[in-house]
Amino acid sequence: MKKLFLLITLLAFSSIAQAENDDELYNEGKEAHQTHCTKCHGDEVYTRENRFIKSMEALSKQVERCKENTGVAWFDEDTEAVAHFLNKKYYKF
Ligand code: HEC
Repeated sequence: MKKLFLLITLLAFSSIAQAENDDELYNEGKEAHQTHCTKCHGDEVYTRENRFIKSMEALSKQVERCKENTGVAWFDEDTEAVAHFLNKKYYKF
């Protein structure tokens, strides 16, 4: 019985940690997006009817492509965070 309790506690903690990681990535992506991605287009391109991004993979690629347009060299590690943020907020793949 004790063992079962321990297992449940461990499982509960690991799912909380997972959620925190997700939130962190989301906030990181949100901030990076706010700083670098609002010059050419607003949020409307993510929600318009004929948006051309149809999968998570395409989304990552587009973030990569647009990132190159910004000319910010150190932005590499944020690509995943920004794609995660856009997916959670708009695309929901
Ligand atoms: C230099 C200008 C420019 C910057 C800066 C820019 N983009 Fe873009 N982005 C574009 C253009 C142009 C399109 C295509 C718009 C269209 O087809 O109407 C586009 C389209 C997109 C799309 C696809 C929208 C769809 O139809 O589903 C995504 C996603 C996107 N951009 C993300 C980003 C992200 C993330 C950043 C920041 C890293 C960023 N953009 C910065 C020019 C830019």
